Amino acid sequence: MFYRGRKLRGSPVLREMLRETRLHPEDLIMGYFVADTKDKDFCKAIQAMPGQYQLSLEKLLQTVRRAVDCGLRACLLFGLPAVKDAVGSGAYARDGIVQRAVSALKENFPELLVITDVCLCEYTDHGHCGLVSPEGEVRNDASVELIARTALSHAEAGADMVAPSDMMDGRVAAIRTILDEAGFTALPIMSYAVKHASAFYGPFREAAESAPRFGDRKSYQMDPANRREAMREAAADIEEGADIIMVKPAISCLDLIREVRDAWDLPVAAYQVSGEYSMIKAAAQLGWIDEKAVLMEALTGIKRAGAELIISYYTQELLEQGWLS
Ligand code: PBG
Repeated sequence: MFYRGRKLRGSPVLREMLRETRLHPEDLIMGYFVADTKDKDFCKAIQAMPGQYQLSLEKLLQTVRRAVDCGLRACLLFGLPAVKDAVGSGAYARDGIVQRAVSALKENFPELLVITDVCLCEYTDHGHCGLVSPEGEVRNDASVELIARTALSHAEAGADMVAPSDMMDGRVAAIRTILDEAGFTALPIMSYAVKHASAFYGPFREAAESAPRFGDRKSYQMDPANRREAMREAAADIEEGADIIMVKPAISCLDLIREVRDAWDLPVAAYQVSGEYSMIKAAAQLGWIDEKAVLMEALTGIKRAGAELIISYYTQELLEQGWLS
């Protein structure tokens, strides 16, 4: 006697009935890059991420309309300010590009869940996620203050959720406090809790024009080799009040997604980052892989690992192409 597993794989209908993991539109979050520009038609292709664009506010609204018509439920916003400075003023400006984009999106698509990435790196002239001391070190506590102000300004603009991605210590607690004090007690925080200093973010640096001018992010983002440290970071963020825990990147961290999923009962999000997107796109464009099949396998694997939410730049295309049906 031996196990005849093939009995359950004999027909398409049986295979479909027994599929354990399915992707739904409500699992997915689309990332958008909105630029502060007077040119209403601004729509600049991101070379390293074919199919993705930096968009003017007007173009963003047009793009999101198409996505919403195809079933988009949620998006994550990144901003490109008109000017950058040493303290990232554009990140927490009342009339900053993300703040304006949030209000416009909520006005036009009240049902769409609008999440904002909370960080300074797109707004600082040095490209780091926090303030830099004269000695060239990324300062923690002073940065956290600005990160919290940024989150509050997003909440005031009408964001449904804030997602701090800076990896400064104590930022989740600081954001929770400032939000609660301002009356935003019901606003959830999705924290980039397990965030590695990853080469997979390469294409994003072009997309968000946020490459650090000097050094790297290794003094605040985690070493991808570390599992125990990942769990400590997640525990700290939960303690500080995070409502959803994110693991990032996704495909190289499936073990961590599972571990976080099993250790706590909070929802887990995974971020299929720019490099993951670009690798699939590039191989597909060369005709080396079946784009839809590889994408679905990657996303399903991420969900099977334990993520109930997936941030993916493929979300819009996948919905427009009807790949989930
Ligand atoms: C901002 C931020 C980054 C990403 C999300 N938020 C860049 C970074 O930390 O270097 C990466 C997303 C991607 O690669 O798609 N701190």
